Amino acid sequence: MGNPNVSLRLGILVSLSLTTCYCYSSQRPPLTPPKATPSDLLSLLGSTSQSSKVNPLISHQLQSCFRFLVPFTPTNHFQRARRGLCVSDENELIWRPPQPVLDLARLAFDSGGDPDAIHRALDPTILPVPDAEGSKENRCQLTRTPYGRRFISQELNSYLEFLFKLIVARGPAVGLNVSLNRYDLFHGHLFIARDTARLGILFHAKEYPAYDKDVFPYNMGYCQIGSTVTYNDSMNLRNILWLAPLPNNSTNDWEAPGVLVVLDAHPEGIIYRDIIPDYVNFVRTIYEDDLGNVAVDVNYLNIGNRVPSYQIFIC
Ligand SMILES: *[C@@H]1O[C@H](CO)[C@@H](O)[C@H](O)[C@H]1NC(C)=O
Ligand SMILES: *[C@@H]1O[C@H](CO)[C@@H](O)[C@H](O)[C@H]1NC(C)=O
Ligand SMILES: *[C@@H]1O[C@H](CO)[C@@H](O)[C@H](O)[C@H]1NC(C)=O
Ligand SMILES: *[C@@H]1O[C@H](CO)[C@@H](O)[C@H](O)[C@H]1NC(C)=O
Repeated sequence: MGNPNVSLRLGILVSLSLTTCYCYSSQRPPLTPPKATPSDLLSLLGSTSQSSKVNPLISHQLQSCFRFLVPFTPTNHFQRARRGLCVSDENELIWRPPQPVLDLARLAFDSGGDPDAIHRALDPTILPVPDAEGSKENRCQLTRTPYGRRFISQELNSYLEFLFKLIVARGPAVGLNVSLNRYDLFHGHLFIARDTARLGILFHAKEYPAYDKDVFPYNMGYCQIGSTVTYNDSMNLRNILWLAPLPNNSTNDWEAPGVLVVLDAHPEGIIYRDIIPDYVNFVRTIYEDDLGNVAVDVNYLNIGNRVPSYQIFIC
């Protein structure tokens, strides 16, 4: 004959031990999703051996935020290009830039990521930054310093112009309408990545969205006055990354070709969640210092009076 009290007590025991079990298991580390780092992002745009080291979940999510302006071909493209396939094409100029750009990438790498390696490639001549599109009248200083310089190699300066123009030309294909003006695209930050000493430029488009009491109630100072940039979903695409080819550490060869990619920071994505600091998430800014040691800013300013005339100023 069963004693109801016994089974009741048994029941309590069982449930107690179940509870204990449950409590015990809940003391294991909580299952928070792994966090993507700027270094993960750069690795995925590097050689296959670098990208294979990134957590697969993170890799998958980051890759879903890459909007390539030039197709990404991590393996061996560089070698093929070197063997004399068509090098005149714009894609090729990203995959395998002209020699002065490669030289700079190699200098940065060989210096172990020392920004002075970049500074030494600059012509010492100091160029005052002239008025750009009425900036002076509004007391707006667009550049970090009121004067700039240029690279000694004219081909390097031209390559920078090429990058700005290519972003404008190819942006619309990935949903980024961008203009070369002092409110939208006019600058990038040239950096050397910390782990790999790879040379790169982080461009920021949509720099000064127009004040709007409903959609963008932020006062950004003198440089915002007169802005024609609308704050809308296109802000998600304002971070554009160029990477020089990645040098091989033991030979004179190259591990990975150059890259030009828009980093989509839409609020549901991992770039917004993990790479963009909370205090600037409204403007979707990826910080250049998070990607590497910043050597200089690269500005491309319209200093023409009536007829547009764009020039590079390195500050
Ligand atoms: C970009 O501009 C073109 C032409 O002005 C327009 O048709 C297109 O819808 C715009 N695209 C985006 C994503 O804003
Ligand atoms: C290159 O290799 C050397 C040792 O061979 C190492 O100390 C250095 O960190 C490496 N540099 C990079 C950027 O991988
Ligand atoms: C954002 O606004 C611009 C006008 O400044 C417009 O051309 C573009 O289509 C808008 N983009 C989106 C994604 O709404
Ligand atoms: C560099 O090149 C050598 C020789 O081709 C190769 O063995 C090595 O895996 C390459 N990669 C790195 C990161 O050194």
